[in-house]
Amino acid sequence: MFASTLSLGLALLPFVSAAIHDVQVGASGKLLYYPEAIAAHPGDQVVFHFHAKNHTATQSSFADPCGRKEGGFNSGFQPVPVNQTDHLPTFTVHVNDTEPIWVYCAQAVRTPNSHCGLGMVFAINCGYDDEPNSFGNFKKAALAVGASLSAAAAASTSAYAYPTPDAHTTSTAWTTAAYGDYTIPPAPHPTPVTQAVTLGDQTWTTTYESYPNSPAPTPASAEGVVHKVIVGGPGKLTFDPPNVSALPRDTIVFEFHQKNHTVTQSAFDDPCRPFNANGLTGFDSGFFPVADDATEFPTWNYTVTDTAPVWAYCRQGNHCGAGMVFSINSDESSGRNFQAFQNVAKALNGTAVAAVTSAAPTATTTDSGANPIKIGGASISLLAAALVGYLL
Ligand SMILES: *[C@@H]1O[C@H](CO)[C@@H](O)[C@H](O)[C@H]1NC(C)=O
Ligand SMILES: *[C@@H]1O[C@H](CO)[C@@H](O)[C@H](O)[C@H]1NC(C)=O
Ligand SMILES: *[C@@H]1O[C@H](CO)[C@@H](O)[C@H](O)[C@H]1NC(C)=O
Ligand SMILES: *[C@@H]1O[C@H](CO)[C@@H](O)[C@H](O)[C@H]1NC(C)=O
Ligand SMILES: *[C@@H]1O[C@H](CO)[C@@H](O)[C@H](O)[C@H]1NC(C)=O
Ligand SMILES: *[C@@H]1O[C@H](CO)[C@@H](O)[C@H](O)[C@H]1NC(C)=O
Ligand SMILES: *[C@@H]1O[C@H](CO)[C@@H](O)[C@H](O)[C@H]1NC(C)=O
Repeated sequence: MFASTLSLGLALLPFVSAAIHDVQVGASGKLLYYPEAIAAHPGDQVVFHFHAKNHTATQSSFADPCGRKEGGFNSGFQPVPVNQTDHLPTFTVHVNDTEPIWVYCAQAVRTPNSHCGLGMVFAINCGYDDEPNSFGNFKKAALAVGASLSAAAAASTSAYAYPTPDAHTTSTAWTTAAYGDYTIPPAPHPTPVTQAVTLGDQTWTTTYESYPNSPAPTPASAEGVVHKVIVGGPGKLTFDPPNVSALPRDTIVFEFHQKNHTVTQSAFDDPCRPFNANGLTGFDSGFFPVADDATEFPTWNYTVTDTAPVWAYCRQGNHCGAGMVFSINSDESSGRNFQAFQNVAKALNGTAVAAVTSAAPTATTTDSGANPIKIGGASISLLAAALVGYLL
């Protein structure tokens, strides 16, 4: 009986007059909206109050937290001097339905100082904490965008020496990974080289694509060199060593230890899915289950054919998202070094980010809008990290 009385009460809500929700933007110099998430009914108004600095309230989407939603609302920049504490500018959004509305601050967007990337996001009618489109997940995605922008900036200022850029062939544009809005350094451009190669009493002419800082295509010997790589082992999600420098004709012997791993070719911008481009597929060892008490370890061989960088991962579970990746001939002096590749795999959390990205559009809630918004403990602790003051 109590329950039915309660639902009757909720059913009457539409007749209650529309509410006005006040949201403070950047109060006390913090890169935050307060509150960070609200529930609102159709007909309600959300009024953003802009505090000192220079913020926006711009509509985005769950899939792209720091990117403007096409046709979405935007307050524009609201510069407010530090000494101004009243008559703050406002911007009002009319809530028309119970669909989630995602909002970010567009200040310094696409730079390491991006307010959105530092967690300055807001939501109306988002999913519950345990749902894919929770506020916590939205904020996490925004922080991941920020982390990738910082990592990208760090990589670009470290030794990043490609040979003399050729304006015609060298793209210096940063791109994004296959999913998740993670920014990655430009791909190296190979230069075609024709060279006479001498091996023992044999000499031949070869034409090859020379990658910056890659080894010459000269085999070390007719048989090549053997490089041994241990895959996995008790409590280990690693390739050991995780990267090798190898010449054509060299053999990489992958020795599979405990658990059940693969070595599977992928791409720098898409580390955790099998390589597949222009109809070409990459190599894949298949799964090698190895018992905990095993003393003999199966091997799988890969023969190096050229000196272009090769990227690979283990496709078991989320091993890749945990950093179980491998490279051959990665240019360690460039932004696309082994560590950068591993960072992409971790930032995309294997394929989890892709799953969230594609799940988001179908995850919209059709609830009445009377949801209590709970903000998980995890997002609160992430928040502390985001509060490092950036003054713009
Ligand atoms: C506010 O920020 C925008 C974007 O960064 C900038 O173009 C504008 O000049 C800033 N306004 C003031 C008054 O600082
Ligand atoms: C803020 O400071 C500026 C420059 O010091 C001054 O011109 C302005 O009147 C001050 N505004 C307020 C609201 O105190
Ligand atoms: C609600 O509808 C009004 C009128 O069409 C529109 O101006 C406003 O942007 C809509 N609100 C949202 C959040 O889309
Ligand atoms: C492997 O990567 C590490 C870290 O990026 C680097 O220091 C090392 O030189 C690389 N080793 C080889 C063989 O490329
Ligand atoms: C190894 O992993 C694959 C993929 O998860 C699975 O299909 C296979 O059954 C596993 N093999 C063993 C023996 O656990
Ligand atoms: C892999 O290469 C090593 C070294 O050349 C060789 O001893 C081994 O038999 C090869 N394994 C397979 C499965 O071909
Ligand atoms: C990474 O993905 C796994 C599932 O593969 C998930 O359980 C985990 O929560 C994700 N971690 C983050 C930080 O999103």
